[in-house]
Amino acid sequence: EANEIPKDKLKNELLSFTSTKEWDERAWFDGNENESTHFTIYGYARSKMTDAELRTMVSKTLTCRIDKRENCNEKMDQFLKRCFYHSGQYDSEENFSQLDKKLRKHEAVKCASLSASSGNGWTRVIVEKPFGRDSESSAMLTKALKQYLEEDQIFRIDHYLGKELVENLSVLRFANLIFEPLWSRRYIRNVQLIFSEDFGTEGRGGYFDNYGIIRDIMQNHLLQILALFAMETPVSLDAEDIRNEKVKVLRSMRPLRLEDVVVGQYKSHSRGGVTYPSYTDDKTVPKDSLTPTFAAAALFIDNARWDGVPFLMKAGKALHSRRAEIRVQFRHVPGNLYNRNFGPDLDCATNELVIRVQPGEAIFLKINNKVPGLGMRLDRSNLNLHYAARYSKEIPDAYERLLLDAIEGERRLFIRSDELDAAWALFTPVLAELEEKKIIPESYPYGSRGPVGAHYLAARHNVRWGDLDMEQ
Ligand code: BG6
Repeated sequence: EANEIPKDKLKNELLSFTSTKEWDERAWFDGNENESTHFTIYGYARSKMTDAELRTMVSKTLTCRIDKRENCNEKMDQFLKRCFYHSGQYDSEENFSQLDKKLRKHEAVKCASLSASSGNGWTRVIVEKPFGRDSESSAMLTKALKQYLEEDQIFRIDHYLGKELVENLSVLRFANLIFEPLWSRRYIRNVQLIFSEDFGTEGRGGYFDNYGIIRDIMQNHLLQILALFAMETPVSLDAEDIRNEKVKVLRSMRPLRLEDVVVGQYKSHSRGGVTYPSYTDDKTVPKDSLTPTFAAAALFIDNARWDGVPFLMKAGKALHSRRAEIRVQFRHVPGNLYNRNFGPDLDCATNELVIRVQPGEAIFLKINNKVPGLGMRLDRSNLNLHYAARYSKEIPDAYERLLLDAIEGERRLFIRSDELDAAWALFTPVLAELEEKKIIPESYPYGSRGPVGAHYLAARHNVRWGDLDMEQ
């Protein structure tokens, strides 16, 4: 994805897998010929590409995870030979039947289209966002998919759910005694969900302009993290039990209000002799576009656990750094002994737990600590878990995990249709209002920290955004 194919080409793709039998991943890796001969991958998308080009693209990111690495090249070759590609439109039955014809040539596979399904195996359809652009269009899309497929055949991807640290959220909370008791309004002052990219929408404006950052990042990636973060303990780790809890959180939330949102759009900026473009410099973007490339929002969960705790989201393109993280700021220590005895100079900072999703996966807990020496001075320090230092293993790509889950029929990390409805219900009114009232986004220079409005919004809720730069 990162290499040659522009990202927008990969957007809205529809991947279909079909198999004549429940495919056993082990068998493939163990080289069991009987199993692997039943396995074929067909790519179908609008972009024009040959089988060979698809194979080159796949080979660039293909990872070999078998224990005995010596025959990796051979395995990868075998795998690539089973990858094919057909180009066509998503709304053309004719194109799909051409695909069907090709598929039929491969004896092991029947058909992978919306209108024809595998007769004696399974058909699962993985769909990636945009799932519509508001409640209404999303419901239409769901209805259309359900004309051909059962809910359990539909795998709605939110690739943030496949990120290592997002999956680890529940482990951190439910498998460690020290966190779960603190996980409520009683001890947590606010939660921040931050996404920033240090590049703009370059080349993707055509897709982006119709959606904007709220739909692109907040309504899905950040909200999914929020739901996982805030849910009650699920009955079990089964997909339905987890998704039931996530839906409850989403349905307990207040729809976002306009006064709790700040929107921004990046403008051109020159630095070190380089001029960085503004959003509207993109040729695929109308010059008068009001589409936000930055947004900050304050959300609330009106349930007993989270009553009054602001969940602040911030997402933006063309900012000064690339990062995605969850920050949990805790309340002040009541009757703080150290502040009282040593005066405000010793100001005890509040504790903060930071879960850095990327880059440089890490978890750290900010604590107050005595600076070693004869006097009494306090210092803010970190208890750190840096993945690169702790684990020598390469972290799998989010899509790798999710595609494997879909093949295995594991739904835990995919979005159920009622989750999607609840997510849209939160954002649809404010999105409509922003568009109807033609709210002008606050401009911010390419490569900056974003519009100042985000700080005022946070301040109104008694929050200061956590800052990565202070933690390097
Ligand atoms: C996609 C968005 O869902 O996520 C993109 O459409 C964004 O705009 C991307 O760049 C970020 O994903 P990642 O995994 O690179 O952080």
